[in-house]
Amino acid sequence: MISKRMGKALIDQINKEMYSGYLYMAMSSYSDHIGLKGFAHWFMSQYQEEMGHSSKMYHYLQEQGEHVQLLAIEKPQAVFASPLEMFEKTLEHEKFVTKSINALVDLAIKENDHATNIFLQWFVTEQVEEEAHASEIIDKLKMVGEKGNGLFMIDRMLGDRK
Ligand SMILES: [Fe+2]
Ligand SMILES: [Fe+2]
Repeated sequence: MISKRMGKALIDQINKEMYSGYLYMAMSSYSDHIGLKGFAHWFMSQYQEEMGHSSKMYHYLQEQGEHVQLLAIEKPQAVFASPLEMFEKTLEHEKFVTKSINALVDLAIKENDHATNIFLQWFVTEQVEEEAHASEIIDKLKMVGEKGNGLFMIDRMLGDRK
């Protein structure tokens, strides 16, 4: 069993993960709209990862006997100024999620909730990767200046994501 407060905090986190997925799906759609198929593929994979995160949390709550009462998902941004803006927004959003995961760990520690603390460790590690991936792509986009051949190359690279 987990506390009411922890349960509610994890349900909020499910919402944040779903919103992340929604945001990346919107970015995928916009990328497709402007002809960047590789970017579209990358953001769609990201969408799927976020859905995986939310269902991981959902199943954990189920196991803990929680009635998961889902919240409304906010409408994401639909149009972006540039491919770089999409990745800057991605990094900014992942930093926000990292803070949120860290706050969950703090709460688990405060409540001596060892099971939830251990459950959350996977997400702590995952956030390090997610921030690193977004930063790496931002660096590349800045390097090529988002035009012509360079952008084409990055689009191909992003299209190779498994
Ligand atoms: Fe996530
Ligand atoms: Fe994420």
